[in-house]
Amino acid sequence: MSTILETLNAATSAAFAELGFPEALGATRESDRPDLAPFQCNGAMAAAGVLKKQGHKANPREIAQNIVAKLEGHPAIAELEIAGPGFINIRPAVAALTARAAALAADDKTGATDLPPQKIVIDYGGANVAKPMHVGHLRSAVIGECLKRLLRFQGQTVIGDVHLGDWGLQMGHLITELQDEQPELPYFKASKTSGYPDVSPVTMDDLARLYPAASNKAKSDEARMERSRVATAELQAGREGYRALLGHFIDESIKALKKGYGALGVEFDLWKGEAAVDPLIPDMIEGLKAQGITEEDGGALIIRVEEENEKKDVPPVMLLASSGAVLYHTTDLATLVDRKAEIDPDLILYVVDQRQALHFEQVFRAAVKAGWYKPEQMEHLGFGTMNGKDGKPFKTREGGVLRLEDLIAMMREAAQARLDEAGIGADFPEEERADIADKVGIAALKFADLQNQRTTNYIFDPERFTAFEGKTGPYLLYAAVRIKSILRKATDMGVSAGEIVIEDPAEQNLVLALDGFDRALKAATDKYAPHLLCDHVFRLAQAFSRFYTDCPILAGKTPEPVKASRLALAQTALRQLEHGLNIIGIDAPNRM
Ligand code: ARG
Repeated sequence: MSTILETLNAATSAAFAELGFPEALGATRESDRPDLAPFQCNGAMAAAGVLKKQGHKANPREIAQNIVAKLEGHPAIAELEIAGPGFINIRPAVAALTARAAALAADDKTGATDLPPQKIVIDYGGANVAKPMHVGHLRSAVIGECLKRLLRFQGQTVIGDVHLGDWGLQMGHLITELQDEQPELPYFKASKTSGYPDVSPVTMDDLARLYPAASNKAKSDEARMERSRVATAELQAGREGYRALLGHFIDESIKALKKGYGALGVEFDLWKGEAAVDPLIPDMIEGLKAQGITEEDGGALIIRVEEENEKKDVPPVMLLASSGAVLYHTTDLATLVDRKAEIDPDLILYVVDQRQALHFEQVFRAAVKAGWYKPEQMEHLGFGTMNGKDGKPFKTREGGVLRLEDLIAMMREAAQARLDEAGIGADFPEEERADIADKVGIAALKFADLQNQRTTNYIFDPERFTAFEGKTGPYLLYAAVRIKSILRKATDMGVSAGEIVIEDPAEQNLVLALDGFDRALKAATDKYAPHLLCDHVFRLAQAFSRFYTDCPILAGKTPEPVKASRLALAQTALRQLEHGLNIIGIDAPNRM
């Protein structure tokens, strides 16, 4: 069934066409002044322009009057009003709202429609083995997860890949530092090539200690740095003991990352990384050479990717450094080869810090030059940084890099303080209170991130994020919890949902909000802009809140059929709210 807007749009477009104007001029949209009317059609001014160009006299208000005359009596329209120079304000008919509400209530997905099916890889998360996470990794995880869910909800096949950074100098640092600590381990004996222990000699905590230790020493000690470089090169050249260690490092990191990402509600389908595609590199390079698109450049192997007459400077892709080492470009290209072979996706989205925009531009151009993909099959979705109050990328109080667990703990604490302050859950069992604080903290963090335009920076402010008032995650949770409690109460009272009949303005407003869901999904998808979905969910929660205030559902004086109608409306609102929250990646508790 069409949305209210689609129905109105079809009517106004047809009216313009009947008067001999281009149909597109008759577009109806949501009004900038919802206080006057929910929808408006502003085509009369442009239509007058068309007539004037043809040398006719034209008055936009008169055109608007003619359009209105055509629309008068349309079953989906209750009221048409001309404002200013020729704006047409449109109020839909209550009967149309009732019919639409019934359709939304009967639809599991409350009006959401599927997109033409595509196979999409989302490359997000991007944490590095042993290197601590930075806020860029956090934002990537939150945004990428949301986009994954958004696309899946609309019928797309989506594969999320964490694309671990596990193939760089940090590996050499870890190997050499571990060797200094435990030289007797079998991994370091050059003569030994198999039979290594299954159990990792290090934990994640060890890695988190070894890496900064090595990296700090290497900064001031060239010989120390050289050992790490050599170890990295030997690892990449296939030294068995080092490969075995790498396996342990990766496994330990994945275990820890799964916990951290899991706490954030972020799940990956693939836990591949740079190391996983290393075996593809020699063939890939031979192939590229055979195509004649590589060049030797001072000992390095490159692909030139700049285009003619281009203003910006796009340096060549580096396939091999003069030392023979593979680089970030190389592993990303090999990953493209791997994805083609294993998945053959229609589209690959990279949710990575805006600061890597040039890197992806280079990689994409090389992949197109190689004929592997079309340009529109790869897109980098950059984002701004989450900053501290000082306006610089957020760091811990000690100035160190972020640990996901610490950030989550901070959010939980802020949430608990808010809950205590509001007296929420004071008499709940301890375990439930902890669970609520977790959910509120995560909801606060994720919503605060996603509600911003993706490319802007924002300031980390746990106190503001966890407020129950305003455009926050907790406000949305509260809205969902409130509806759940109404539904429980209805069950207790033996009231069940029935036919929806729309009357009250607050009911009308709620249906209009519900009607916008598919539009919000499509707009958010079109621009890969989660904030547009956040806007919708917030609007829905607000519309419900007004409905709840103005339209008693279970009160004794509410007639039975009205109770049943309002209850059905509340159920539908909850279902849509939960869909929205689920896409955003937020879990509502049952009560709070
Ligand atoms: N590990 C990288 C970093 O920390 C991010 C990886 C992003 N994805 C990719 N395919 N390059 O900067």
